[in-house]
Amino acid sequence: MGQACLTNDERARLLQAARNALKQAYAPYSNFRVGAAVLTEKGALFNGCNVENASYGLTVCAERVAIYSAVAEEGKDMRIKAIAVVCEMGGDCSPCGACRQVISEFGPGAIVIFQSREGIEEMHISELFPKGFARRGIT
Ligand code: THU
Repeated sequence: MGQACLTNDERARLLQAARNALKQAYAPYSNFRVGAAVLTEKGALFNGCNVENASYGLTVCAERVAIYSAVAEEGKDMRIKAIAVVCEMGGDCSPCGACRQVISEFGPGAIVIFQSREGIEEMHISELFPKGFARRGIT
């Protein structure tokens, strides 16, 4: 599992895309707006924001919106090189467990950049989500 390296330019583009996506969030129930951006191995950027619902459990996180949009465009072989997640000032948006599982499915080598109370953190998905469930060899 190769550990990819991000250039400063890629990191800046990802964070800017995630910050722009945050403005699109539909979060009238939590008022917690989240933006995400995926950089695919092919070099394309895809955005996502959280989309809530009156039936709260139907809410989808920003990360999954961005990842599924990338799959919809690039198809089943889409692979995440890096994903950035941001929320409003001072917030902590380390990806939730469900999103870590999804990042791991499409980005076993992904770099995850996220906002925390300490600032912007950057970790490899295997560090954030060790021993995730995987069905190797299924295509
Ligand atoms: N949320 C995300 O979009 N991503 C995360 O990593 C954490 C949580 C959203 C879901 C919900 O709309 C709001 O944040 C509050 O939980």
